[in-house]
Amino acid sequence: MSESALSIGLFYGSTTCYTEMAAEKIQAQLNTLFDDQVVSLHNIKDEALKRAENFDILIFGISTWDFGELQEDWESHWEEVYQLALQGKTVALFGLGDQLGYADWFQDALGMLHDALVPSGCNIIGYWPNKGYEFAVSKALTEDQQSFVGLSLDDENQYEQTDERIEKWCLQLLEELS
Ligand SMILES: Cc1cc2nc3c(=O)[nH]c(=O)nc-3n(C[C@H](O)[C@H](O)[C@H](O)COP(=O)(O)O)c2cc1C
Repeated sequence: MSESALSIGLFYGSTTCYTEMAAEKIQAQLNTLFDDQVVSLHNIKDEALKRAENFDILIFGISTWDFGELQEDWESHWEEVYQLALQGKTVALFGLGDQLGYADWFQDALGMLHDALVPSGCNIIGYWPNKGYEFAVSKALTEDQQSFVGLSLDDENQYEQTDERIEKWCLQLLEELS
């Protein structure tokens, strides 16, 4: 049981395990930073998305498929996303995509998830600069086009940067949470 009583629920959907691997790395990194087992993992294929309401701090992970479409487990539960009671909760997002293979749809599902969550009144943290990526169009950019609405990972083309990006993003979350 966590001494700090801090509890972060990380909910993700993953078709070929890349988002799942990133989720595990984020969990390990945050547990190290907090020196405690603060993050629990929840694959939305097996667990009700509604369980997210039990946490005050949440991380959601999603990949983009089929030219700008949602990962299949998120797609199956998409109506539930709009019904989540997340008012006042803190939410961070991360996405997996392929900037070269799908340059016109890079990380679109990340943007769609962000836009679906905003009306809930949650506080979204963990916006991430879009420097160091090469793509044409993305629905996951902020209005000023300078940032992604969450951590953007690309294990197809930039696998070697994933661990460093996760480390940096987790430090950023720690700062934004304190
Ligand atoms: C058939 C197919 C379609 C894809 N479509 C997109 C896309 O539209 N946009 C994007 O950014 N990435 C796209 N990707 C890349 C995936 O998002 C990437 O492989 C990701 O790591 C998959 O994560 P997952 O295994 O956790 O689902 C696609 C990959 C495949 C194989």
